[in-house]
Amino acid sequence: MDAPTESTRESRFPKWAAALTDHDAFQQEQARLGRIWTFLGLTTDLAKDGDWFTAQLGGRSVFVQRFGDKLKGFENRCAHRFYPLRTKDKGNGPIKCGFHHWGYDEDGRAVDVPRCKDLFGVTPKELNARIAPIEIATCGSLVFGRFQHPRANETLQQFLREAVPIIETMCTLTRQPRTVTLDIEANWKLCYHISLDDYHSPAVHPTTFGMGGYLKRSALRYFRFGMHNAFFPGADENGLQSMIQPCQDGTYRPVRYRIFQIFPNLLIALFRGQYMFAKRQVPTHWYVNVQQYVPIAPGRSFLRSWYYRAPFKEDRGALNRLYVSLSEPVRKQVLEYNIRKLHAEDNHVVERLQRFASQQGGWPRVGYAEERIKWFEEAYANAIAD
Ligand code: FES
Ligand SMILES: [Fe+2]
Repeated sequence: MDAPTESTRESRFPKWAAALTDHDAFQQEQARLGRIWTFLGLTTDLAKDGDWFTAQLGGRSVFVQRFGDKLKGFENRCAHRFYPLRTKDKGNGPIKCGFHHWGYDEDGRAVDVPRCKDLFGVTPKELNARIAPIEIATCGSLVFGRFQHPRANETLQQFLREAVPIIETMCTLTRQPRTVTLDIEANWKLCYHISLDDYHSPAVHPTTFGMGGYLKRSALRYFRFGMHNAFFPGADENGLQSMIQPCQDGTYRPVRYRIFQIFPNLLIALFRGQYMFAKRQVPTHWYVNVQQYVPIAPGRSFLRSWYYRAPFKEDRGALNRLYVSLSEPVRKQVLEYNIRKLHAEDNHVVERLQRFASQQGGWPRVGYAEERIKWFEEAYANAIAD
């Protein structure tokens, strides 16, 4: 996409900053985005029958629950007097409201209503009260959901496009990953923008990411697919395609940092874990980080972050494998320290941006290293204009 000219900037993305400060604009934005497949959580939290977790979708609380081999999703709102049916992050058990004990079946029907005939004059079946369902689909261990809408007919696979085999390979988990969560006093889009910005590291992360200085333009290899994009530093123009086939046939081995940004607010990064005692002859340790900036209010977001060892086969001898498993707890502590440090540095910037959000307007001057912000805003404008 060409850079917007002075005259087209406003008309192309006229409302990109509206929801940073305006509550109505934020609610409208969220309602629109709720029709788009949105990451909700991990199947590792839904391993057993009756397991459930809560999430945010389109500005509303929802929950996903396992019923046998099926995953079902509902708005987290009782059909009686709208009490939240789930009041924790996750748990296990039947759907039973804590306010007056209405119980729901796996199709969201109120099948157990205390003193129903006596107080409502009808049977639960005649009452026909239901909680609103949401559509659920998975890719690897990632669970996505969306509110039903007559024009929302794209499957999750169609929506994710080229990312499908990559997510299936990088994000199929056999155990619980480690997590980091943070409250951020800034709009989710400001948080997402900084994750799409390959220009800020020397200024914002001078002792970590930014130590190598600015990347040359020739090393900035970006790929755009559907509403999403990816950054493969140093790759050639076939980089994305040449990752897909090895992922499909199980031969992919990481060589360099990779990041996939899945619209609207998810990112998946493949990165080399730094380890202070690592020696040159020790094969590198690769990790995957799944991150989401959950919109809470115009000026407030919640970061959910999961990280785990990349599930690619490693060519290590028995002694080396023993060393890896013994040293892994220390490595994870160091990783978590670095992840929190990077987030703290980014969050410091976005919280400042938020404090001055009422001054954000017009279209910013974005250079080639921020190209993906433009792509994201284009996808956002289309989603919001619908
Ligand atoms: S609000 Fe849920 S049973 Fe009354
Ligand atoms: Fe950053």
